[in-house]
Amino acid sequence: MNHSSAQILEKSINTTDDKDILTSFDHIIINANLATFSAQYGFGICTNSIPYGQLNNAAIGIKNSSIAWIGGHNQITAHLPNYQHHQITDVDGKWITPGLIDCHTHIVYGGNRSNEFEARLTGASYQDIAAQGGGIVSTVTATRAASIESLFAQSEKRLLALMKEGVTSIEIKSGYGLDLDTERKMLTVARQLGEKYNIHVSTTYLAAHALPPEYKSHMQDRSDDYIEQVCEWLPILHSEGLVDAVDGFCENIAFSTEQIRRVFEVARVLGLPVKLHSEQLSDIGGSALVAEYKGLSSDHLEHLSEDDIKKMAASDTVAVLLPGAFYTLRDTKLPPIEALRRHQVPMAVSTDCNPGTSPLTSLLLAMNMGCTLFYLTTEEVLAGSTVYAAQALGLSNKGKIEVGCDADLVLWDIARPADLAYQMGLNPINGIMVQGKWRETV
Ligand code: NIG
Ligand code: FE
Repeated sequence: MNHSSAQILEKSINTTDDKDILTSFDHIIINANLATFSAQYGFGICTNSIPYGQLNNAAIGIKNSSIAWIGGHNQITAHLPNYQHHQITDVDGKWITPGLIDCHTHIVYGGNRSNEFEARLTGASYQDIAAQGGGIVSTVTATRAASIESLFAQSEKRLLALMKEGVTSIEIKSGYGLDLDTERKMLTVARQLGEKYNIHVSTTYLAAHALPPEYKSHMQDRSDDYIEQVCEWLPILHSEGLVDAVDGFCENIAFSTEQIRRVFEVARVLGLPVKLHSEQLSDIGGSALVAEYKGLSSDHLEHLSEDDIKKMAASDTVAVLLPGAFYTLRDTKLPPIEALRRHQVPMAVSTDCNPGTSPLTSLLLAMNMGCTLFYLTTEEVLAGSTVYAAQALGLSNKGKIEVGCDADLVLWDIARPADLAYQMGLNPINGIMVQGKWRETV
């Protein structure tokens, strides 16, 4: 154990020599290097913080699907004879991180949009394609047409790709239905995916994503009428247990802050947290609105102003950065990373997996892009895929390795945590534990 880790462990309230406790675990992991992302182990944004909140030569005791104890490897060795062979995992000095969390995805959708990819290669912009009836609306057509079984089958491939790289919690948005039945179908598939694959799924209602074709008219703007429907559907889907949070697309090609405010008001009455696609293509004040509603996160943010960063800092709203969309759209306007750092706004990184702007099913590659395109540090992108991604979903028991947290852990065959963001295309996974149980197949 290095000096700083030893000091932290000594101070830790969780370290115990109590034999009854040390012999009571369901499972023990020994010989581990931990990237805890826990303030209890020195993780933080101050200058004397310990990178990744790392603890070397550590052991973890797991009981009832939670982390029950964290200590030095040496503290547990005397008690190992009390355990059966299958209860002990000796990881031989490998690194363990919290289970990765992809906090902004649209993985449930029908069809694909490689034709738009080709159109953009010959000069069309995302906005041009949307104006000509492509974009989000073309995915809406395919999603409406898909049976629930087909939608499940199409979406599960994307989920499995993310899971293979250590994602143990994921947010999944609706927003390609834009009518009550199809929004319900999408959210139902999201819930079914969580159940089938034993992965935590947070569902987000994103009916305020685009104006559906039946509301488009050359004679008048019917977007206010559509927002009224969005507000009416929300309590219905919420009462069916399908909604964990509420999102919208606040942009000059989508909905105004006033329209999103109407949706957020309904969310507030229902006690649902809000988040928003904001400042992706222009600055129309979406993040300020999220901050006013004490929202969990504001996402994209390339055009975010410093004034609105201050508001996000005051409301503890996470900045969710989506380098896959920046890359796919060949954006050149960087999100204001330096100012977000200066104001200590927590930053998360996510795939934004969707068929239009980010057909990306690799959170490790999103981390790499976060470093290379946005100049984030390797510690920032890893924290952004664990502890701050958990915060962006309101999950206080996930995203860090700390006593009391869920035992969602990933074992990696890497020399240093930075390797996870550095390598592209190599998946160094060695094991995935969800709620205290190792997955049989990774
Ligand atoms: O997160 N910005 C809005 N929504 C998605 C794109 C959706 C699409 O083009 O299908 C996003 O980038
Ligand atoms: Fe998105």
